[in-house]
Amino acid sequence: MEKIISLAKRRGFIYQGSEIYGGLAGTWDYGPLGVALKNNVKALWWQMFVEEREDMYGVDAAILMNKGVWQSSGHVGGFSDPLVECAKCHHRFRADQLADTKKCPDCGGAFGEVRQFNMMFKTHVGAAEDDAAVSYLRPETAQGMFVNFKNIVDSFHPALPFGLAQIGKAFRNEIAPRDFIFRAREFEQMEIEYFVRPNDWERFFEEFRRLMWQWVEAIGLRRENVHELEVPAEDRAHYSKRTIDFEFDYPFGRKELYGLAYRTDFDLSAHQKGSATSLEYFDEGSKERFVPHVIEPSLGVDRTILAILTNAYTEDELGGEPRSFLKLSPTIAPVTVAVFPLLKNKPPLVEKAREVYAMLREAKKTASNNIRIAFDDNGNIGKRYRRQDEIGTPWCVTVDFQTLEDDTVTVRDRDTGNQTRVKIDELTKTIFR
Ligand code: GAP
Repeated sequence: MEKIISLAKRRGFIYQGSEIYGGLAGTWDYGPLGVALKNNVKALWWQMFVEEREDMYGVDAAILMNKGVWQSSGHVGGFSDPLVECAKCHHRFRADQLADTKKCPDCGGAFGEVRQFNMMFKTHVGAAEDDAAVSYLRPETAQGMFVNFKNIVDSFHPALPFGLAQIGKAFRNEIAPRDFIFRAREFEQMEIEYFVRPNDWERFFEEFRRLMWQWVEAIGLRRENVHELEVPAEDRAHYSKRTIDFEFDYPFGRKELYGLAYRTDFDLSAHQKGSATSLEYFDEGSKERFVPHVIEPSLGVDRTILAILTNAYTEDELGGEPRSFLKLSPTIAPVTVAVFPLLKNKPPLVEKAREVYAMLREAKKTASNNIRIAFDDNGNIGKRYRRQDEIGTPWCVTVDFQTLEDDTVTVRDRDTGNQTRVKIDELTKTIFR
C-alpha cells in the first residue's frame, strides 16, 4: 500500500487534501493523471450502464437537498455508525471495527458508552442559522434520483422497467477514514436506480449482477480478486431486502468495492408520504397504478481507482534493472501512447516527433475518442520509458535517426519492454486497435 500511495503522489495521480496545511483527514485531491484515470473510468461506466442501453436516463441532481428528503429516506434518523470514545486519550473509534470494545487500542484506557453518530455533514442554507435552514451534504447520490422520478416520468413517459443514472460526489463524516482513498469523507459514486414491477425484481437483480461482472472485466480487474458476499439481513442497510457486496482483495484485506441492492419500494413510498406527492406509476397496459420497486447497483469511483491501481501495480526486472510499473488496460490508462524524439537537442528529431504526434492526434479524431496521446522530451530516453511505465502508458513511440531516413519509428510495449520498428503510415493500425 505504501508503494501505491507513494507512486500515486510522485507521479501526480493523488495527493493528500489541503496538504500544505497539514491535510484534512479523509480528503484527497486528484492530480492530472488521477483526473485522467477517473474521467476514463466514469466515461466507461456511463457508456456501459447508460449509453449502450435504451432504458437509462441520466440526471445530475444538486448535492444540497431539502432536509425533508433525508428525513423521509431514513438518513436523519438512522444513517449512523456506533461510536466509542476513550475516557483517557479521548480518541474515537467505530465500535463495530474494534476487536475489544472495552479497552482503547491506543492507550489502554476505558471506553465510555457506545453511542450512535450520524454521518451526514450538516450545514445551513442562507443567512439564518436556525433549524429551518438546516441542510445536509448528500451521503449517497441515490436520493437525487428518487426525488426526480416523477420529473422523468412526466417528461419522457418511459415504460417500465427503466433506470435513472447519476455520477457525483457524496459526503460522509466517517468516524475513522482510512486506507488511502478507500474510506474517505468526500468521495464519488456512480449509481443507478432501476425501477421495476414488484414481481420482476429478481430477474433484474440478476441482470445487474451480470453487468457488474462485465464491468469488473472491462476495467481489467482480475476476476479472482473480486468476490461476491451475500450480506446477511442484520448487516443490510435499512432499505434493503437483499444486498450482494462485490468485495476486492485490497493490500489491507478483502473489503467492499461495490454494492448491489434490492431497495424495494422503500424510498419512493417514503418520499410519496413525506412530500405528499403521488409517486405511483400508471401502467398503460394493465391499467394499474403502483409504486415501482428498485434495483440499485452502486459503485464507488475512488474504490474503483484504488482497485485498479492495486491490480495494475507490478514489479519486475527489465534489462537487469528492477522496475515498478502500472499494467493498466489501454481503455483506462491516462496516456495511451507517448511520442518521443530520441534526443531532445536535435531539432530534426524533435520536429519529426512533433509531426508524428500531430498525425496521431489528427487520426484519433476519426479513429476513437478513447485514445490519449502525449508528447514527452523530458530527461533521457531511459528516464522517459521509466516514467511512462510508472504511469501505465501501454505504448511509447520513439523517433530516432533511422526515422529521418526511412519513416519508421520504434514502438515499445510497456509490459515486455520489446521494441518493434513500424512504418509511420502503419502506426495508427498498430495502436488504434
Ligand atoms: N446508494 C447506496 C449506497 O450508498 P453504500 O454501500 O453505502 O450504498 C456504495 O455505498 C458505494 O460507495 C460503496 O460500495 C463504495 O464503493 C462507495 N463508498 C461508500 N462509502 C465510502 C467512503 N467512505 N469512501 C469511499 N467510497 C465509499
